[in-house]
Amino acid sequence: ARAEGEQTGATIGSGIIPVDLHARSLANGHRGGVVWLTGLSGAGKSTIAAEVERRLFLRGWQVTILDGDALRLGLNSDLGFSPKDRAENIRRSGEVAHLLAESGLIVLAAFISPYRADRDRVRTINPEAFHEIHVATALAECERRDPKGLYGKARTGAIPQFTGLSAPYEPPETPDLTLATEGRSIEDCVTELLHYIDNTFALT
Ligand code: PPS
Repeated sequence: ARAEGEQTGATIGSGIIPVDLHARSLANGHRGGVVWLTGLSGAGKSTIAAEVERRLFLRGWQVTILDGDALRLGLNSDLGFSPKDRAENIRRSGEVAHLLAESGLIVLAAFISPYRADRDRVRTINPEAFHEIHVATALAECERRDPKGLYGKARTGAIPQFTGLSAPYEPPETPDLTLATEGRSIEDCVTELLHYIDNTFALT
């Protein structure tokens, strides 16, 4: 048990500083925040997030990924793809993203998050820490890529409520960044997002 009068917090020199966001930023050399990647299935959200995470990690930044597909295996395994379930999926994931960001991390959040209202609710948790990135790949191109064969299955009706085909996708109206992926290399897209992240999160 803590002795009476004992203070929490890290001691630097003779002063006692609280482990708050400012202290974490100074220790990490960058601010924390949520980089929210929204876009159709197959747009490139996860691929871009993975490479950006790798590059930030290699330079010693505190970074993690929250990915829709992965969270649906655990935290959100009770949810499907109805508008109500997607809203809950994004609500929970958004809360987790902001908690991690408050602990100093740069959170790369990759979710289709097709409904504007759901994304706006995540922004509202902490607008200053929320950055909306539209991974803007047209439906025709996502369907051409079809990396998991989902569009093919959705076309036969085997997957109902499939985003872009039988369920809506509402693109952001004023995203912080639009990443066009068509006719470009992944490296190009990664470089553009890293540039945005540097400008936004580096301590100046
Ligand atoms: S959402 O809309 O934000 O709640 O979706 P998300 O949590 O990002 O999960 C998207 C992944 O789920 C798979 N999948 C579907 N996507 C869209 N519509 C339907 N009906 C569907 N069923 C399964 C698909 O693999 C998505 O992954 P990504 O990486 O986006 O392709």
